[in-house]
Amino acid sequence: MSSRIQLGLEINDSFQESLPVFKVAHANTLKGEANEYIKNALDRKVKLIPAGHNQWFAVLYRDKGENEFYVIKEEARRLASKVESLADELKLDTIVTDFDLRGFTESQVKDIQLSFVEGLVLSNYRFVKYKSKPEKHISALKKAILKGFNVSEAELDQLLNVLESVYYVRDLVNEPPNVLTAEAMARSFYETGQEVGVKVTILDKSAIEKEKMAGLLAVNRGSAFPPTFTIMEYMPDNAVNEKPIVLVGKGIVFDTGGVSLKSTPNNMDWMKMDMGGGATVAGIIEAIARNKLPLKVVALIPATDNRPGPASYLPDDVIEYSDGTTVEVLNTDAEGRLILADALIYARRYDPLMVIDFATLTGSAMRATGPYAAVMFSTLDRDKTQKILQEGFETYERMVEFPLWEEYGEDIKSTVADIKNIGGPYAGAIIAAKFLQNFVKYPWVHVDIAGTAFLDRKMYYLPKGGTGWGVRMIYSFLKKEFVEK
Ligand code: BES
Ligand code: ZN
Ligand code: ZN
Repeated sequence: MSSRIQLGLEINDSFQESLPVFKVAHANTLKGEANEYIKNALDRKVKLIPAGHNQWFAVLYRDKGENEFYVIKEEARRLASKVESLADELKLDTIVTDFDLRGFTESQVKDIQLSFVEGLVLSNYRFVKYKSKPEKHISALKKAILKGFNVSEAELDQLLNVLESVYYVRDLVNEPPNVLTAEAMARSFYETGQEVGVKVTILDKSAIEKEKMAGLLAVNRGSAFPPTFTIMEYMPDNAVNEKPIVLVGKGIVFDTGGVSLKSTPNNMDWMKMDMGGGATVAGIIEAIARNKLPLKVVALIPATDNRPGPASYLPDDVIEYSDGTTVEVLNTDAEGRLILADALIYARRYDPLMVIDFATLTGSAMRATGPYAAVMFSTLDRDKTQKILQEGFETYERMVEFPLWEEYGEDIKSTVADIKNIGGPYAGAIIAAKFLQNFVKYPWVHVDIAGTAFLDRKMYYLPKGGTGWGVRMIYSFLKKEFVEK
């Protein structure tokens, strides 16, 4: 099911002279030695400047000092995406990227180089599984020889392991709903788990009934396909944490809205992406396992489609969760929070250090920040919350923190049950978060990725369709916060 990273990378300072070369350098470095034509291009901030036969300058412009350093890293990713596009267009099978990063510190040079490779690999992704002639649609660029590369083979491999997980998430999100049922997705989690050394347990419908997962069962009632609840566990002996970090992801494989039916187009027609959160947390735990981080991590993914059917759950239904909480359903399209509640209750048995959930939860979050950021909520202490936000900048998977103020919880008080699953017309992303918070009994982060999980157009190194957004960010946060400390 998953397309692997196709781009070969080779650290090598000697190569065939006839190969096309992209010299990656800062504009200031090039200015000194350039002819009039190149000086002119540099003045116009052209990113790829032809510099003779089979030669280009790939130019970084942002000045250090002028901006935070993370801006230059992002510039390197975007520059790499330009190189990838040009190589594809010109049908260059192999290229050399020749790094000349004079003027940066040693650690900055490494960061820029890693970011550049990251951008190159992320741009090289194509989803061609359903093309009758896939060869025609994959990128022409098959190999990059890295010259003047200061990063070790091991560090490069670590990066590629994380990016392999990003590819995995993109693939799953891009799978059509007639293929990716809840069971098919759970099977995919199982198979990848086997491959990377993550223990995977799949609860089937009868096990889900025994657990009294009221939300998942209610949403599933309209479906012809059984629900699944996947538990992924990575518990290495050398773990630095006693209590595990638990990840939770929304796994709605297709969201029609149920009897509160969505409209098409531009609303229902891309709802295959509604399992994006589930795929993301599977991707994160896989990346951690691939790189053997000494961290206990668990991922929980409740999954079903949401559609109308003869036995569909209905607005006005009241359901009772295994912890006794009762919920009045007033809109069957607010289904994500209902299935996440089961997982948040289930997470309690791990006595988690923290729980981080990812969900394509609300149109409201998407309207607030568009494709450029996710909406994030946190009950962690300020220091840790700040570190997560900072990691968002470092990886350019940026987030805006929204509040969990008490007042927003007023909106979901119910007259017949404890709470209801929708509030008023405003602040939908916050109200959804307040709903989830009812089930939370541990430090918690909620990331609403409705705007970032899936794009309607290519954006630099993010393709149209599934983006794999969030894997790099949380992976880096967990590694820095717990492993490198
Ligand atoms: N899956 C949707 C949210 C969504 C919308 C994700 C757009 C990605 C892009 C979710 O299940 C939903 O339908 N939410 C409703 C909630 C409302 C009925 C309270 C929404 O946001 O409109
Ligand atoms: Zn919905
Ligand atoms: Zn949904």
